[in-house]
Amino acid sequence: MSTAVGSFVSRKDGHQKVTGQARYAADHPITNVAHAVAICSTVASGRVTAIDSSAAEKMPGFLAILHHGNAPKLFRPVNNFESASKPGEIRVVFEDDKVHYVGQYLAVVIAETLQQAQHTASLVKISYEAAPPVIETEQAMSTLYDPSEFFGEKLKAQRGDPAGQFASADVKHEADYFTPIEHHNPMEPSASMAVWDGDEVTLFETTQWVVGARNTVAETLGIPEEKVHVISPFIGGGFGCKGFTWPHSVLSAIAAKKTGRSVKLNLTRKQMFSACGHRSETRQKIKLGAAKDGKLTSVQHETMVQTSTVDEFVEACGTTSRFLYSCPNMGITHHAVRVNIATPTPMRAPGENPGLFAMESAMDELAYKLNIDPVQLRIINHADKNEHTNQPWSSKYLKECYQIAGEKFGWAKRNPKPRSMRDGKLLVGWGMATATYPGMRSPGAAKVRILQDGTAQVISATQDMGGGTYTTMTQVVSDVLGIPVDKIRPALGDSHLPPAPVSGGSMTTASVLPAVKQAATEALKKLVQVAIANPQSPLHGKKEDEVTAANGRVFVKGSAPESGITYEQALLANNQAAAEGESFMAPGKEREKYAFQSWGAQFVEVKVDPEIAKATVSRVVSAFDIGKVINRKTAQSQAYSGITMGVGMALMEHTVYDHRDGGIITSNLADYALPVHADIHSIDVLFVDKPDPHIDPYIGARGVGEITITGVAAAVANAIYHATGKRIRELPITPDKLLG
Ligand code: MOS
Repeated sequence: MSTAVGSFVSRKDGHQKVTGQARYAADHPITNVAHAVAICSTVASGRVTAIDSSAAEKMPGFLAILHHGNAPKLFRPVNNFESASKPGEIRVVFEDDKVHYVGQYLAVVIAETLQQAQHTASLVKISYEAAPPVIETEQAMSTLYDPSEFFGEKLKAQRGDPAGQFASADVKHEADYFTPIEHHNPMEPSASMAVWDGDEVTLFETTQWVVGARNTVAETLGIPEEKVHVISPFIGGGFGCKGFTWPHSVLSAIAAKKTGRSVKLNLTRKQMFSACGHRSETRQKIKLGAAKDGKLTSVQHETMVQTSTVDEFVEACGTTSRFLYSCPNMGITHHAVRVNIATPTPMRAPGENPGLFAMESAMDELAYKLNIDPVQLRIINHADKNEHTNQPWSSKYLKECYQIAGEKFGWAKRNPKPRSMRDGKLLVGWGMATATYPGMRSPGAAKVRILQDGTAQVISATQDMGGGTYTTMTQVVSDVLGIPVDKIRPALGDSHLPPAPVSGGSMTTASVLPAVKQAATEALKKLVQVAIANPQSPLHGKKEDEVTAANGRVFVKGSAPESGITYEQALLANNQAAAEGESFMAPGKEREKYAFQSWGAQFVEVKVDPEIAKATVSRVVSAFDIGKVINRKTAQSQAYSGITMGVGMALMEHTVYDHRDGGIITSNLADYALPVHADIHSIDVLFVDKPDPHIDPYIGARGVGEITITGVAAAVANAIYHATGKRIRELPITPDKLLG
């Protein structure tokens, strides 16, 4: 029996990537190309009074300029996540003369060459009537409101009497936590190339959702969705900023239409800081009440975030606190203010990630007050079911995560006293936190073809952001067909393929692989039918259930595979090109019965140099319960990436705005500090690897993209407290906060 699923399989696309053959959005060869450069607002609030392009239009190579005064009519798309139409910002580009934030697109210039387009764009004079911008939360309090929902989840929840129980608790902890605005900063900036052929447009994109991009662009342009073809075979990271569809994908299309040329539009790194979302700042108040034995009696989580003046996106920090620990009294609320900054968007574990920074820091603080080991405190309050929805967990191995990661880390040797551990002149600290993320799943389709040359194809309009979808699809097919992974060719990232959901919410694996497995099984069934139908076949006349297929051969059940014929022989004998299976699968009633959630434990060692107040994360040991692990190599790789990003969040990342004019001060990779190799040391990743018995009928995997970042920042902050005795509740923990 072949077992590609669950093993350590190298990337199918690895060779293409390291040899430069992988084509990212701007790499596809297109002819008759012209170059577009977007012009962005330099004021944060007000209106455009004039756009003077007279000098620009005289420049050599100039082809066209589009802005609110002359752009074709565009329409607000349906904006429904479920029907796969989701703009990053509901206000349509060039809708009117209003300006809402620095970086808003005001015009796009198209010219023969990139240099001509850049120079021409620099000559366009834009006049504004500027209003004073509102950048800081404190300035925006007049816009304060309570948003009601985040993707169907109510943002206010209560059970029991949280306030009363907090007031009378034996032991209390109350504190405020702050996380700053962060940007995704994928290696590959967003880009869009548009090629019209009559009334149909092909868009080469970098998107986490080819189907969503197709629908959103079609609706914005006001044309049928079958007239838009989105192609995105390789994505240089996304982390959420390529999930919803941002205006550049529409700009390239209207620029190409206007000029009758193919148009290439690349975003600059600076534009990546205003044109495709960010993680909102969060201000969170946590109140925990506990009995002396450590049992929580009250959990309260109040969150304040920013959203934009044109749309709503809420960083739902408190939703996890409804069920993270067992507690009869719980209250969560969310507030938002509107600022002159572009609309936030999902960024790796939106809500859970900053939410767990606050909650898991607070649990550590409570553990110190109670004089209970932080792991023990979490075990005391383990939630055996989801107390918010009152559902049993589909499966949950959180205690195993604490146990296996804690053991590997050496947690038992920890002296809990702050400043008690040293490495020479360095202060050593050990901290931990719980990790968690929902086990989402959406409808997905796939097709599998067994070909007459003994190879197979597997196709789906899903995406591979670098996480490994190409590889995992072939692993599933390999096990069903019994042929090696290298004989299976995957295709994805193309809206013409069978539809799949957004590669967001860590749900690609859980949504697509069950359909792949069913399609492969169906293809094999077709192959068996071919083999028994053909009079030349040794299997001719057998009943379908008497025959089986494995190891690339069809044969009579119970006999040796060698007694049968190969897939090629079966197809060739029938003069048939392929046996094909197709599947569409959707989650069902199991979603009403069970709560699906992934779990993990992050253990972190920091070393703090007291002379320069600098913290280094010297060691991380993490364990995750993500259901079945499909590919140990790519799953581990996802964890390295999530943990690294978590270290960045803890110690470095922070987008700084100029509160006077709304300009983005850190809009480049020199000023926006991110971890590099020198910042990252030992990371050990463990998986419980027990299939989720309910998430789907075939696979049992819950996905690994986002859970790996959750809890990291809290574990780092907790380790820093242990090392230094300083409790830092404001990210990032830069040297200035550790001084003094
Ligand atoms: Mo993710 S932040 O759901 O792409």
